[in-house]
Amino acid sequence: ALYPALATVAAYLIGSLSFAVIVSRLMGLSDPRTYGSKNPGATNVLRSGSKAAAIVTLLLDAVKGWLPVFVVMHWGEPFGLGAGTVALVGLAAFLGHLFPVFFKFEGGKGVATAAGVILGFNPWLGLASLLTWLIIAFFFRYSSLASIVTAVFAPAYYLLGGGVAWEAPGVMVLSLAVMAVLLVWRHAENINRLLAGKESKLGAKKQ
Ligand code: G3P
Repeated sequence: ALYPALATVAAYLIGSLSFAVIVSRLMGLSDPRTYGSKNPGATNVLRSGSKAAAIVTLLLDAVKGWLPVFVVMHWGEPFGLGAGTVALVGLAAFLGHLFPVFFKFEGGKGVATAAGVILGFNPWLGLASLLTWLIIAFFFRYSSLASIVTAVFAPAYYLLGGGVAWEAPGVMVLSLAVMAVLLVWRHAENINRLLAGKESKLGAKKQ
C-alpha cells in the first residue's frame, strides 16, 4: 500500500497549490480572497478585471487535477497502481484544492480541479462536462449554476457512457459522486444567492 499512499499524498499536495492566490500574487493583482465572492478560484479572479489571470488560474487549477490522474493511469501499472488509485488521486487533488495544506486549509470550490480530474478519467466525459458547463453558463450567465449542474451530471454521464468500457467503473463513479457532493456543498452561499436572485453574473466586475 506504499505506492497508492505516496501517489495520494502527492496528489493532495499538488491540489493544495491554490493557483488563484499564486497567480494573482505573481501578476501583482489583489488577493482573490479579499474581493467579490472571496473565493480563490478562476471565476472570482475574473472579477479583478484580468481575463489573463483568470484563464491562467483556470488552466493551472485544472492541470493539477488532471496530472495525478494521467500519471497514475498511464505509468502506475508497474507500481501496482490500478483504477482504485486513479479514482483516489483524483479525489485527493480535489480535496487539496478545497482544503489546501499551504493555505490554512481554506481553499476553493473545486470546479476547475474537478474538470481536470474528469478529463483525466475520460476525455469524452471531459468533453460532455465542458459542453454542459458552457451551455448553462451561456444561457443563464451564472458560473456557479453551470458548475453545480455539471458536477451532478458528470457521474451520470460516466455511468451512461465511458464507464461501461472501464474495468472498474464503480470506483470512478464513486469518486465523481463524492466530488459532486462536496462541490455542491462548497456552493452553499452561491445557491442561497441564486435563490434570492442576488448571484453575480459572469462578466460583472468585483464589488
Ligand atoms: O469557481 C467556482 C464558481 O462555481 C463560483 O465561484 O466566485 O462565483 O463563488 P464564485
